[in-house]
Amino acid sequence: MADDGATIEALFSEGRKFDPPAQLRETAAINSPQIYREGEDYETYWATQAERVLWRRRWDRVLDWSNPPFAKWFEGATLNITESCLDRHVAATPDKVAYHFEGEEGDTRTLTYRDLLGEVCKLANGLSSLGVSKGDRVAIYMGMVPEFPIALLACARIGAVHSVVFGGFSPDALADRINDAQAKVLITCDQSRRKGQLVELKTFADRALENTPSIEHVVVVERTGNAVPMQTGRDITYAALTENQSAEREATETSSEDPLYILYTSGTTGRPKGILHTTGGYLVGVATTHAQVFDLRPEDVYWCTADIGWVTGHSYIVYGPLANGATSVLYEGVPDYPDKDRYWSIIEKYKVTQLYTAPTSIRTFMKWGTEFPDRHNMESLRIIGTVGEPINPEAWMWYRKVIGGDRCPVVDTWWQTETGNMMISPLPAITAAKPGSATIPLPGIGADIVDDSGVSVPLGGGGYLVLTHPWPAMARTIYGDPDRFVDTYWSRFSDPANGLWRYFAGDGAKRDEDGYYWLLGRVDDVMNVSGHRISTLEVESALVDHPSVAEAAVIGRNDPITGQAIAAFVTLRSGIIGTEALILELRDHVADKIGKIARPASIVFTEELPKTRSGKIMRRLLRDISEQRKLGDVTTLANADVVQEIADRANSMKASTEE
Ligand code: PRX
Repeated sequence: MADDGATIEALFSEGRKFDPPAQLRETAAINSPQIYREGEDYETYWATQAERVLWRRRWDRVLDWSNPPFAKWFEGATLNITESCLDRHVAATPDKVAYHFEGEEGDTRTLTYRDLLGEVCKLANGLSSLGVSKGDRVAIYMGMVPEFPIALLACARIGAVHSVVFGGFSPDALADRINDAQAKVLITCDQSRRKGQLVELKTFADRALENTPSIEHVVVVERTGNAVPMQTGRDITYAALTENQSAEREATETSSEDPLYILYTSGTTGRPKGILHTTGGYLVGVATTHAQVFDLRPEDVYWCTADIGWVTGHSYIVYGPLANGATSVLYEGVPDYPDKDRYWSIIEKYKVTQLYTAPTSIRTFMKWGTEFPDRHNMESLRIIGTVGEPINPEAWMWYRKVIGGDRCPVVDTWWQTETGNMMISPLPAITAAKPGSATIPLPGIGADIVDDSGVSVPLGGGGYLVLTHPWPAMARTIYGDPDRFVDTYWSRFSDPANGLWRYFAGDGAKRDEDGYYWLLGRVDDVMNVSGHRISTLEVESALVDHPSVAEAAVIGRNDPITGQAIAAFVTLRSGIIGTEALILELRDHVADKIGKIARPASIVFTEELPKTRSGKIMRRLLRDISEQRKLGDVTTLANADVVQEIADRANSMKASTEE
């Protein structure tokens, strides 16, 4: 776990509690604790929430859990998700803004619901003309421009399954994901903008496409318009594909359980998992939680700063907000371009009412200082949220005071790619918040904390976080690998012989005497760097792929800004000298193989890696060493010293550290 017992004691003893503001308690749509009781009968509760969605045919059965852990929600129902997200709002409020797009260079574009539907239909028609039909997979690799949500929705319009790959991933990572999903078409950009620089997305995509035989066509959004290589017959610009298409397109009817998207996430093996989400239940889940947790009102301007390349963007930039007819800000760039007040200037400019961002960003803002938020009027803000990793109480307090003006409730939302929607989070008008705690499970969600043998831990204790019953937006499977789905999430704490099925999230948590959950980080070999999940094994494989490397071990060490930082221990092939230049080369090699987010913060060369007698690398030991030594960017340690130290510690820890 990321934190030790002492940290948790500190969390518990800090004792601050913030009640919902009185005015919010009066005015919020969800303002009675009764909703938690309603959630206990979770099938009825979710069936009630399903009224938020536009169905073509209603369900015969709310939940089919006869073949666990493969759930079916709203069985028999049909819909097209874009009719909930677009058509019904176009009928009611066509001129309402769906997205205020803000480019990094200050260029803007406003898309009303009518505009958005028109664009979605044109691209849907364009994709059809390329031969994409219901059930086909479409890969999407883009920067944060309006065509990004349009691409997702265009796929959904025709029942195609999108598979978004974060634009920061490398060509190799893109190729792996395209191949796993057997995508037929790739939608990308010529270039994207990041911190004043141009990112060569199409060039990266071209490198991936050398090894992706399933791709027949590539659609290229001209974000910058600079010349990029185009392959005749395969590649077509977005403009050329859509210019003569109709702005109308009948939505394809899908069943509630038809797949909506695949999104890859890191697991404990080197191979990413294609998390599969389906349609009806997912939409119910994201629409409900988005409305409840942000106390959404028609006049609000909501802003989630995530990238659509991650699940937060799928659920809370695209599907949840659009299903609720919200007006959102869509920002292309980074928080410190052109200056460190960019977020705050956007909040002032658009009078943002809800901000949803990540703890790592909040800690960075703290480091930059209050002079940047102080430059702007942020009184429009009403609710501020966080997601992606545990937030330390100090950062939580800073966020509440400096950004939320000491008046906005902070909603710390715990969830995962696999859960589809927020699971543990305060309801801002009902749930008192404690700095550093995600509080309690949302209505309709069942959670528990269990010990190693699966026994529920009493209040005040810690253990493994499990989810105790199905929920509508839950992942349905790992694409193409249902056995791995069962093994990874449903084996460790379930008892099928007795009909007991519990989802294991991979997180450690404690619960205080009020039943509040305090998330402690991952308990598996998954690191959380700036809120991004990266598997130690993936980085190890990338390192071992380099010709100089014989063996590598990777751990996440605590870091004050990014939560965890990647620390690598590398044994070189004989005859290779460990120089600082080689450290830089290896870091770049990992960035090339996976993406910059996976570049190790430090690399230490050692003659041997510490292992148990059965040959397993003792990562816990390496973590101890890293955190005590606070290894810098390009530190090398004298081999003998490291090995000697590792050996000494290994001897004294022996039995207890054997994993
Ligand atoms: O460890 C938890 C952490 O992020 C993991 C999920 O990562 P991902 O699937 O990439 O989704 C991130 C956005 C939903 C979880 O297993 N995590 C996420 N939110 C929180 C969190 N840890 C503590 N507190 C949170 N609010």
